[in-house]
Amino acid sequence: MVIKKIAILFSGTGSNLEKLLADLHHKTFQHCRIEVATTICNRPDAQGIEKSRRYGIEPLILDHTQYANREAFDEALVHAIRASGAELTVLAGFMRLLTPVFTQNIKALNLHPSLLPLFKGGNAIKESFDSPMKVAGISVHYVNEELDGGEIIAQRCFEKTEGMSFEAFEAKIHALEHELLPLTVKNLLDRTYHES
Ligand code: GAR
Repeated sequence: MVIKKIAILFSGTGSNLEKLLADLHHKTFQHCRIEVATTICNRPDAQGIEKSRRYGIEPLILDHTQYANREAFDEALVHAIRASGAELTVLAGFMRLLTPVFTQNIKALNLHPSLLPLFKGGNAIKESFDSPMKVAGISVHYVNEELDGGEIIAQRCFEKTEGMSFEAFEAKIHALEHELLPLTVKNLLDRTYHES
């Protein structure tokens, strides 16, 4: 059985990190077994750190404030991911802009809480809630130089109901994320061959 290793990067609550660990770590699928080789966090106080520990994985803390610039931080990320042996990196609520030092060296996908290419950036849930659109959703996409601009891999959407509160809207976004992200990672890895 082929073992496929992934790295998960996070910054905060870590609910998507937790779902990835629950659904994929040490799990055997049709063509592979998936192992989370490392979890990496840029905030020493992130709630997700405890969640990772619950699955027996001590997160690597790379505090971005301790690096001279974005490139130096990204170099540390690249080094850690390579050392872990991960072939795919998942950004699960990782709130850092990444430079070409990262994007040109690491195959990564990102979860974003909007129907890209709409509502890129850090305020996507609020912007999509406030928009006149009748639908909203989430995206999983490859990471490239452009913020939230890489090739879209998978999306899910839902209808905004009349009078829907922001809390209900946000909860729907997160519920869809928790379904789609592990499924997308599994689908990408659990194949008999890989396109280059
Ligand atoms: C998720 O909603 C994810 O889509 C978003 O951060 C949240 C992390 O939640 N990511 C972005 O906005 C990236 N631009 P979590 O820490 O509970 O997984």
